[in-house]
Amino acid sequence: MTAHLIDGNALAAQVRAQVAERVKVLRAGGVQPGLAVILVGDDPASAVYVKHKVTDCEAAGMRSVLERHPATMTESDLLARVRALNADDGVHGILVQMPLPKHIDPQQVIATLSPAKDVDGFHVANAGALLVGQKGFKACTPYGCMKLIETTGVALRGKHAVVIGRSNTVGKPMALMLLQANATVTVCHSGTADLAAHTRNADIVIAAVGRRDTVRASMVKPGAIVIDVGMNRNEAGKLCGDVDFAGVREVAGWITPVPGGVGPMTRAMLLVNTLEAAERRLA
Ligand code: GUN
Repeated sequence: MTAHLIDGNALAAQVRAQVAERVKVLRAGGVQPGLAVILVGDDPASAVYVKHKVTDCEAAGMRSVLERHPATMTESDLLARVRALNADDGVHGILVQMPLPKHIDPQQVIATLSPAKDVDGFHVANAGALLVGQKGFKACTPYGCMKLIETTGVALRGKHAVVIGRSNTVGKPMALMLLQANATVTVCHSGTADLAAHTRNADIVIAAVGRRDTVRASMVKPGAIVIDVGMNRNEAGKLCGDVDFAGVREVAGWITPVPGGVGPMTRAMLLVNTLEAAERRLA
């Protein structure tokens, strides 16, 4: 049996359409949700991501402001820009594209963001809200993964989820969201002794490592849901995830492709968070 494909492009299109409808309502009331995106330096991959975020906003009827700064920008100048955007009433969401140049401490930047505009969900106030089950902005990638899992119709109570990776942006918030949804959660990482022993017992596997072929067919329980957060390149330069897609799809029950799985949902959830930032301001 070949796994069902979870189509991130199709789900993201649905989410974007829902966002666009809610944006229309806000605009009819005189408010246009706005996202400010700050890009420091000229990393080509970051430039592409940022361009997508801006065009997504505009397609949904939101306003977007892209600020590009040279890689030599000082940390204090960047913090000053963040403070100015915090105070700008036309801006509902602020995203500072990561990674930042080495001389800038990302934690300082995140701490300077107004939590009410932190649509990445990276500020400790938002990360902490997730930890204790309060309302806050959820990190876009794990939030998108939850939506992808929901499309399977599988109820998470009583299910074992294994998250591979413990980053602040994906692994840790992912584990908390799965826990909130009543899954039993194991977090594996580079210090895990026997990864396969964990994944073979998992009903849901989330791979967020950044190394291709981390999850192979022999490591997956038949029928499992496999969500691939990885974005890597193979020898031929082709985009691939952390999962051996061709092998694992023959074992899993559901699987997300790369590209066309998690990536489009990360972008879609940024729109959802930005819209909610504008709606909450009005509430
Ligand atoms: N760089 C790669 N992904 C992201 C993201 O989701 N948010 C930000 N701010 N930077 C990123």
